[in-house]
Amino acid sequence: MTNSIDSDDSIAPDLARDPYAFFAHKRSTEPVWRGTIMDTSAAPPELVSTEEWTLFDFDSVFSAFRDGDVFASEFYDNTIGLVLGSTILSMHGKQHHDHRSLVAKAFRQSALEYWEPALIDPICDQLIDEIKDDGGADLIQALTFEFPTRITAALLGLPQQDLELFRRLSLDLISISENIEAGLNASVELGAYFQDQVNQRRKASTEDIIGDLVAAEIDGERLTDEAIISFLRLLLPAGLETTYRSSSNLLYLLLTHPDQLDAVQKDRDLIPAAIEEGLRYETPLVSVPRNTTREVEVHGVRIPEGAQVNLCMGSANRDESRWPDAEVFDIHRDRKPHISFAGGIHSCLGLNLARVETRAMLTSLFDRVTDLELADDVEIVGMPFRSPTQLPVTFRAAAGIAR
Ligand code: HEM
Repeated sequence: MTNSIDSDDSIAPDLARDPYAFFAHKRSTEPVWRGTIMDTSAAPPELVSTEEWTLFDFDSVFSAFRDGDVFASEFYDNTIGLVLGSTILSMHGKQHHDHRSLVAKAFRQSALEYWEPALIDPICDQLIDEIKDDGGADLIQALTFEFPTRITAALLGLPQQDLELFRRLSLDLISISENIEAGLNASVELGAYFQDQVNQRRKASTEDIIGDLVAAEIDGERLTDEAIISFLRLLLPAGLETTYRSSSNLLYLLLTHPDQLDAVQKDRDLIPAAIEEGLRYETPLVSVPRNTTREVEVHGVRIPEGAQVNLCMGSANRDESRWPDAEVFDIHRDRKPHISFAGGIHSCLGLNLARVETRAMLTSLFDRVTDLELADDVEIVGMPFRSPTQLPVTFRAAAGIAR
């Protein structure tokens, strides 16, 4: 763990395993903290800020997201931008607005309404059909990584025979912190692969996300090939990884709270509430960084210009001043919006897609299997991305299938 966990060493646990006691302590004692929750030990020294801060309570995280002029994200160009290319995440002002308007066309509500029955439901049904008679499976391998991979490939309009290549490159890219060389190679290979896909669509238009990005135009402005390719690369950590981790977390939470699993299985109208509570309780992306463009005061504490500030959504989502019994997973609680999809101008562009995909996956699963039980002890780990590393379960094939 980083040595920048300062005077709180006595309570600073292995944050990747269980950060929540530490977060609770910080919320009650020092919600604006000069220190970091990130392990920077392996990062190149020039990328490690000497002024690193973390915000832990809901109000300050929420306000910082909304104040994008002061809490900016440009330095993403010097971090993940080195792998993904310059992306929408690091843009601001008019450039961000124009770029977001162009790419948002590919994620419009009418597209989502078409994709759900045409692509998303059949992919989820097929995946569960492949395992339902096996009596058990590792749900991460068989399902939670696979459904967003297949759905993303289908929405992008990639040829079916490229699925294996896409799966391998996606996995290598999002695992870059474990194997830098493989991650960098995947980034280059994906760039060449997506360029070829873009070229094909410049010759003949297609009705898929890449086709939409190629055709998108506002006031005569179009996206360059480079912008499209960087955006497509970004969709792997931003869209695929987050969905796989959040759905793994939700399944884990339901499996470890059998009464709530039973309730959702019996009443599918509870699925949306379960998804939101899962996102609140085990936020898949715990924290995102910002850099201050000027000195700023938060809860009376002055943060200097040029500081790196971690906006800790995982802690904000457990803020007891917003949620009674915030440390309890309860799908029946009164709903209040969580902050797992960030906020302000960079709030998640794919939040509705993520919700629809996860609902479809759970519906397919509950329609096709019963007696779902964890087959081994597992736990949710990681920082800043969190999820279980495996999810071994047993189940029985259901008698009749509703969908
Ligand atoms: C449960 C799943 C998801 C979670 C928890 C999540 C979370 C987030 C968060 C926290 C951000 C803000 C990052 C930052 O400001 O530094 C973000 C931005 C973004 N997300 Fe998601 N996301 C999810 C699913 C998706 C999906 C499915 C897509 C698309 C396929 C997507 C596309 C994006 C894009 C393009 C941005 C950048 C928006 C901008 O900069 O204007 N996300 N997401």
